[in-house]
Amino acid sequence: MSDCPITPSMCVRCLGYGMMRQLADFIDPQDGWKKLAADIKDPSGANIYSQLHIRRFEALKQVGKSPTCELLFDWGTQNCTVSDLVDLLIRNHFFAPAKLLLPDSMRTTDTTVPLSLQETTCLNEKENQVTPVLPLLVPDKGSLTSVSCSPSTKESCLPLNDSVLQSFSFDKLKSLTNNFDDRTVSAGGNKIGEGGFGVVYKGCINGRTVAVKKLTSVTDVSIEDLKKQFEQEISIMAECQHENLVELLGFSNDSDQPCLVYDYMPNGSLLDRLACLDNTAPIPWKTRCKIAYGASNGICFLHENNHIHRDVKSANILLTENFVAKLSDFGLARASVRLTHTILTDRIVGTAAYMAPEALRGEITPKSDIFSFGVVLLEIITGLTPVDENRDPQLLLSIKEEIEDEEKTIQDYVDEKMSSWNIASIEQMYSVACQCLHEKKNRRPDSKTVRQHLQDLLAE
Ligand SMILES: Nc1ncnc2c1ncn2[C@@H]1O[C@H](COP(=O)(O)OP(=O)(O)OP(=O)(O)O)[C@@H](O)[C@H]1O
Ligand SMILES: [Mg+2]
Repeated sequence: MSDCPITPSMCVRCLGYGMMRQLADFIDPQDGWKKLAADIKDPSGANIYSQLHIRRFEALKQVGKSPTCELLFDWGTQNCTVSDLVDLLIRNHFFAPAKLLLPDSMRTTDTTVPLSLQETTCLNEKENQVTPVLPLLVPDKGSLTSVSCSPSTKESCLPLNDSVLQSFSFDKLKSLTNNFDDRTVSAGGNKIGEGGFGVVYKGCINGRTVAVKKLTSVTDVSIEDLKKQFEQEISIMAECQHENLVELLGFSNDSDQPCLVYDYMPNGSLLDRLACLDNTAPIPWKTRCKIAYGASNGICFLHENNHIHRDVKSANILLTENFVAKLSDFGLARASVRLTHTILTDRIVGTAAYMAPEALRGEITPKSDIFSFGVVLLEIITGLTPVDENRDPQLLLSIKEEIEDEEKTIQDYVDEKMSSWNIASIEQMYSVACQCLHEKKNRRPDSKTVRQHLQDLLAE
């Protein structure tokens, strides 16, 4: 089949695997397939792919599959044609793969593109809140830009608003992390973790333990973008100081690998502690309630100060010696509700298993943080990871539907490792989680209300 010449009327399901792979090479990077999936409609104009479908495709990445291929195979079963696919690609500005399928298709783009663009705009306008993407460098803070843009090789203290951030040389951070020793701390090295943006190392400055995050370049992000992201992170974090946010102590920006220096959190992340990684004891219920409240208080602070976190998840809730919750990673918090309540962005950030339906389509509002926090509350109750390929259901948030359908109760899902819980309190937290997980963003509570519910829970 793959040897047949490709024609506009040919079914997508008849495309050979080699062609699918080539298309995927263009569309997989930066999750371009999400954009396509959100734009595939049935004949009545309704979206074919719901956020749950999209999450399922996303989960396939973890088993090494290409979400683009899976999406095209799936859509192909509905008898769509190459012409439909090329239209979709052009509408979403994937010109190279469109040309690969039908080289002639690009000749007609003089007329196709403007039409398609109009369509895209209409789609966005349906949301009623069209806003251009703003790579936001915290408005009103001109001084920050000059601070972060000028690479400093010498160590110094830089006053950023009310805070003082220390500027380190890369070499200094290298020496205090034992040359960024990549062996884990338990193996005698300095590495304490790794995330989407870099590796985190343990170090010591003047007797204070710190966590140094060395940002690494990923293939599809340029050093310039990385540095820009870095500038955003430090400027946002510098103005965010709160008991439930991890403190940023300093940074280095004098090499191609910018670094951030944070206060060290001895109990690591909530994700790891719920999983009892390194044989740590299960967190008791009362402590979990305290963590939930603390994290909601941190989110409230961000929202009250016109920031959206955008990557609320248990890996970004760190724990002090006394299990006080501190939110980390505001690097993604580039949307400021000071300017607008909604920002539509090209680049979808955040972890799919935590993402609100509208966030999967690139629309970021404070209510998408609330949805993600709902998933965190389910993790706290159940001790389960947000996604697990070998579990049914794979996505933790799907237990809500199971419980609604009366297949299970929340009691069936309470973390078996946990002691001293009571069902009334569990049900109360579960009810908050369900409110946060409402599909419609306007039906979700705001962060203040969530915090109030969790405070009530603590008081009992
Ligand atoms: N300040 C800190 N103190 C102690 N441990 C930390 C600190 N910051 C990060 N870590 C550890 O390093 C791990 C990796 O953090 P990192 O932020 O790089 O990745 P992530 O949170 O899993 O994903 P993302 O890149 O989306 O934030 C965390 O899960 C946590 O265990
Ligand atoms: Mg993180």
